Amino acid sequence: MAQPRVLILGAPGAGKGTQSSKIASEFDVEHVTTGDALRANKEMDISEMDTEYDTPREYMDQGELVPDEVVNAIVDEALSQADGFVLDGYPRNPEQAEELEEMTDLDVVLSLDVGEEELVHRLTGRRLDPETGEIYHVEYNPPEDPEVKERLEQREDDTEETVKERLRVYRENTKPVIDHYDEQGVLERVDGEQAPDEVWEDVKATIEDAA
Ligand code: AP5
Repeated sequence: MAQPRVLILGAPGAGKGTQSSKIASEFDVEHVTTGDALRANKEMDISEMDTEYDTPREYMDQGELVPDEVVNAIVDEALSQADGFVLDGYPRNPEQAEELEEMTDLDVVLSLDVGEEELVHRLTGRRLDPETGEIYHVEYNPPEDPEVKERLEQREDDTEETVKERLRVYRENTKPVIDHYDEQGVLERVDGEQAPDEVWEDVKATIEDAA
């Protein structure tokens, strides 16, 4: 396998962003993430697309999915420019999974499995460094540098109320996508409740085995 084409699936807070950064640097592939792309374009005017709201922000702040039309276009553009990639945050419903099948083949489909109680704890404790984009957690992974600690920010959708809605949306829309890959026999499950380095060992080995 030259540069692998990896799909990483899992619930909000399962560790997709944390592990995707490692995959991107270890295997020299693009990190294609719909969440980051949408956060960078939160105020984009999508009113011409006949959507319920006029910007991605209104969907994201409520924990709802941004319309497929918007997200499909972002992924199509990003994948057309990448040889290898780790795709994180997409597909999130069966319709997006069908679109993805039209866009590319995949070498590895990974699922990070984490229980719901742990997901809520991880998301409400997550903090981001606005300067580097580094992901931290107040308890599991606090920064050592007091200057970094001082500037950390919480994501707007990481409040307890929005996290519960995101998990509901995940169960209803995204879990069937994971079940679909499982039924096809292509899903590699990784225990995402282990420490980050242990999860990484398993993720790395799974991708290498697929080579
Ligand atoms: P998105 O940004 O994709 O968020 P998400 O899927 O909800 O996932 P997260 O980024 O919250 O979690 P993660 O799995 O990356 O976990 P992380 O590594 O940060 O989407 C946001 C919104 O955008 C959606 O709600 C929707 O509105 C919209 N959107 C995005 N894609 C879309 C699409 N395809 N269609 C429509 N709408 C879309 O880890 C979480 C925390 O846990 C961190 O603090 C980390 O330090 C800690 N942690 C990580 N691993 C471990 C570990 N092993 N042990 C202990 N702590 C850990």
